[in-house]
Amino acid sequence: MKLSQSQREQFDREGYLFFPGLFSADETRTLTHAVPELYSRREAYNVREKGSDAVRTNFAAHLYSDPFARLARHPRMIGPVQDLLGEPLYMHQFKINGKMAFEGDVWQWHQDYGTWLNDDLMPTERAMNVAIFLDDVTPFNGPLMFIPGSHKLGVLDAGHDLNTTSYPLWTINNELIGKLVERAGGKQGGIVSPLGPAGSMILFHSCLVHASGSNLSPFNRVSVYLSLCAVSNHIRRHKRVEYIAHRDFTPIACLPDDCLLQPYRVELPWKNGLPASALQTSLAEISPSLKLAA
Ligand code: SIN
Ligand code: MN
Repeated sequence: MKLSQSQREQFDREGYLFFPGLFSADETRTLTHAVPELYSRREAYNVREKGSDAVRTNFAAHLYSDPFARLARHPRMIGPVQDLLGEPLYMHQFKINGKMAFEGDVWQWHQDYGTWLNDDLMPTERAMNVAIFLDDVTPFNGPLMFIPGSHKLGVLDAGHDLNTTSYPLWTINNELIGKLVERAGGKQGGIVSPLGPAGSMILFHSCLVHASGSNLSPFNRVSVYLSLCAVSNHIRRHKRVEYIAHRDFTPIACLPDDCLLQPYRVELPWKNGLPASALQTSLAEISPSLKLAA
């Protein structure tokens, strides 16, 4: 899937592109059906909400779940990102965020690239976030919120919040958020929320400021978030465990367009559990040439 000139201009201006209903109900169902069993696992890669058993984030399912491994190679998702970044991509992070009915907690205002730079030493912002809805996203179940154009400001000041939710995040303070929203149009479009059916996809810039409220509705809001990084821009440090920040910089090879409906064979290197190496961390900076040659 190639992007038009006007889509490229829109992405440059606003920092995101929305594709409502990009994946069919049959394609989406293949993924949705796999989620309850993945969430039921008592594994480190399932991060639960504070004080609750509901899963907030499941990490790295593309390495141990067949349908998600096929999604990670989908040309309808990889194609436009490769088009925008102009280079082969690898998977930096893969999450299935729960935001479960009544239980799903907030994601405070943040930029993803801030974390990738601070924690993982990713050299530049040449990485993209992709959100794929596995449930309908409505005003009631904690939709993602963006501040359009905020990606143009580069990395903003952030503080490491270890308390608000069960997952640590580099968050932006309320005063700065107020200014950014005003700059983007205040009450007239200073915050936007793409809403749509299950199967919709959003591409958003790694510096776009975003957040989401809690889900007090009786409707789950399960979404997949993939973070794709240009291969030459791979991370230079393994401070975080491997199931959160990946270390395999091999370019993603796409499957055919019907890969969510046909049982194409894919490798599942972690299907028998996390290897011990995936839990090892280091503050040492890795040499780019050594790593790429490996
Ligand atoms: C994220 O920013 O990584 C998650 C946001 C959300 O699930 O609403
Ligand atoms: Mn984020």
